[in-house]
Amino acid sequence: MTVRVFRNAGEAARAAAAVVIAQIARKPASVLGLPTGRTSLPVYDELVWLHTQGAADFSRAHTFNIDEFAGVDAFRAFMEQHVFSRINLPADHIHFLDGTSNDPRAECARFEREIASCGGMDLLLLGIGANAHIGFNEPARTLRARTHRARLAIDTRRANAPLFGGRLERVPCEALTMGIATMMEARAIVLIATGRSKAPAVGAMLNGEISTAVPASVLQLHPDCELILDAAAAEQLPEDTFRRSGKEDGESQGMATKVKARG
Ligand code: GLP
Repeated sequence: MTVRVFRNAGEAARAAAAVVIAQIARKPASVLGLPTGRTSLPVYDELVWLHTQGAADFSRAHTFNIDEFAGVDAFRAFMEQHVFSRINLPADHIHFLDGTSNDPRAECARFEREIASCGGMDLLLLGIGANAHIGFNEPARTLRARTHRARLAIDTRRANAPLFGGRLERVPCEALTMGIATMMEARAIVLIATGRSKAPAVGAMLNGEISTAVPASVLQLHPDCELILDAAAAEQLPEDTFRRSGKEDGESQGMATKVKARG
């Protein structure tokens, strides 16, 4: 895994956007997996800005959003407002889990089939929950491999309350989410985490153990996964991650591999 640490959230977001831009420049018909949430907003703002500057053409790309609440289309609305209405991604290239479906199992199977029929994800952009969830794969005794209906942790519902007018009781208790194996099949993964509230989760995902109690820790097994952090989110990185990164771009042994410090 590659870890890059930036001075602040803005720089981290620009770096994540640059990875997306490079991907669609290299392969205009790229299939992208996308998250929602506070962390992704500045990434999307940067992508929109680059698009208005003529530096990003989404006309041949396809997107798959990784999760959606059950019974509402809150993440879809978020994406429409902040991204889809502002770039040239054709409407029929936007793939979303329908949280309002009355047959969630069939809906999840449909989503899996659509990913496969698009040829799989080229690049999956992820955020991370404060409890180290990815998508809505919450810490648990076991993790589900494929897209499924998931029960949300109370802290996850709290963290998402701003999307529901700050009213916790309005945040659904369940959601549909891409499964762990589905995510791991993406050809490349970039996880972005910013802010001190994510530092424990980032530390746990790199502490040398792979555990279902820390869902993001499975990303250590991916052959092409990059972590983009700001300094605050990197605060609890295991010390040896830094020790191993004596020089910029220094190769290291073991699980934390490269750290490229900026600024
Ligand atoms: C949310 C979503 C994830 C998101 C993560 C971080 O609950 N299920 O897809 O990446 O948690 O969200 P945020 O960036 O708002 O902290």
